Amino acid sequence: MKRSAIVLSVWIAALCTPTTQAADNVKISRASLLTQPCFSCHGTNGNSTGIPIPSLAGQTEAALSVSLLAFKKGERPATLMTRIAKGYSDEDLQLIANYLATEAKPTH
Ligand code: HEC
Repeated sequence: MKRSAIVLSVWIAALCTPTTQAADNVKISRASLLTQPCFSCHGTNGNSTGIPIPSLAGQTEAALSVSLLAFKKGERPATLMTRIAKGYSDEDLQLIANYLATEAKPTH
């Protein structure tokens, strides 16, 4: 019993030891987490199937971040995206644009 407690605490300590790789993983999952709600409207992995909602898959990071920041500032007219973009910091929008540009591949 005592030995397994020691083994368990060593194991937990190893899990909690910060490494550069762990920090990178946290950043990736945060970007993924922030982006998942977008897919409910923009289609699976950003591939929209409906004309009123554009696909995000296949767009460059620059194009996405320009659009998102313009929505947030109210510089680009929109029915929904102004309200959605305002819910994110500029840094988060940049993180989302980067995630979409690298992870959301076009399927059609
Ligand atoms: C409730 C539905 C909905 C959600 C959720 C949503 N969008 Fe949109 N998105 C739209 C609509 C509708 C448009 C067209 C512009 C408008 O009328 O708002 C649009 C347009 C865009 C555009 C412009 C694309 C282009 O090619 O012109 C980008 C970029 C975008 N959305 C990114 C996102 C991101 C990133 C998220 C998640 C943070 C997101 N959207 C969440 C509905 C949504």
